[in-house]
Amino acid sequence: MEKQRLDKIIASTGKWSRKEVKNLIRHGQVLVDGLPAAGPEEKADPEAAEIVVNGERLTYQRYTWIMLNKPAGYLSATEDGRGKTVLDLLAQELRHQGLFPVGRLDKDTEGLLLLTNEGGLAHDLLSPRHHVDKVYYARVAGHLTEEDCQAFAAGMTLDDGLVCQSAVLEILSAGEESEAHVTLREGKFHQVKRMLAYRGKPVLYLERVKMGNLTLDPDLPRGEYRFLTAEEVENLRSL
Ligand code: URA
Repeated sequence: MEKQRLDKIIASTGKWSRKEVKNLIRHGQVLVDGLPAAGPEEKADPEAAEIVVNGERLTYQRYTWIMLNKPAGYLSATEDGRGKTVLDLLAQELRHQGLFPVGRLDKDTEGLLLLTNEGGLAHDLLSPRHHVDKVYYARVAGHLTEEDCQAFAAGMTLDDGLVCQSAVLEILSAGEESEAHVTLREGKFHQVKRMLAYRGKPVLYLERVKMGNLTLDPDLPRGEYRFLTAEEVENLRSL
């Protein structure tokens, strides 16, 4: 792989800012193939060199994969003249790596959103052919019933002609307001909200809790993110 500046390689892990990297190098805390790095501008092949930062060996990953616990109020986009995007939640070092959200959550929807710069795998995860399940927690106005579950299972054609494939509605609680998990294999525009509205149970709150074999990390506070482990990325690949 082509050589890159050491500060860039280390900062791209997202664990240290470029400023922190400079300090670490100055204090002899960065070793390249066993020798202290000369300066932040020193170049190395990130795949071939053994880079140790603060005693920790870097495992270079060609692509970045991030799990974000999206808060309401952010657009699932990379740029928007009018409002905040999910990229605004990332550290400065991560904003110029070509990261983009894997699919979209509505501005008011919260929960699991993946960000990556690996176009091929992102595309596969979203492709309807690959049938990657997405699970949402929904709170709705109105009493969810067994008929609603059957209508979801049968698939439905909405008033505006949108054809929705079979989906799973699992009622968690039912009353004046109800709660449910909705599992979809597709990702049409506002799909969960539209399906529930069609059943006369408008969504009051929506959160994505699962995508494929990845569950929203319960230790990840709203608005925060973490890197996927190599194992988690491999698991996504196996889908
Ligand atoms: N379905 C919706 O209606 N909104 C989302 O954000 C995701 C799925």
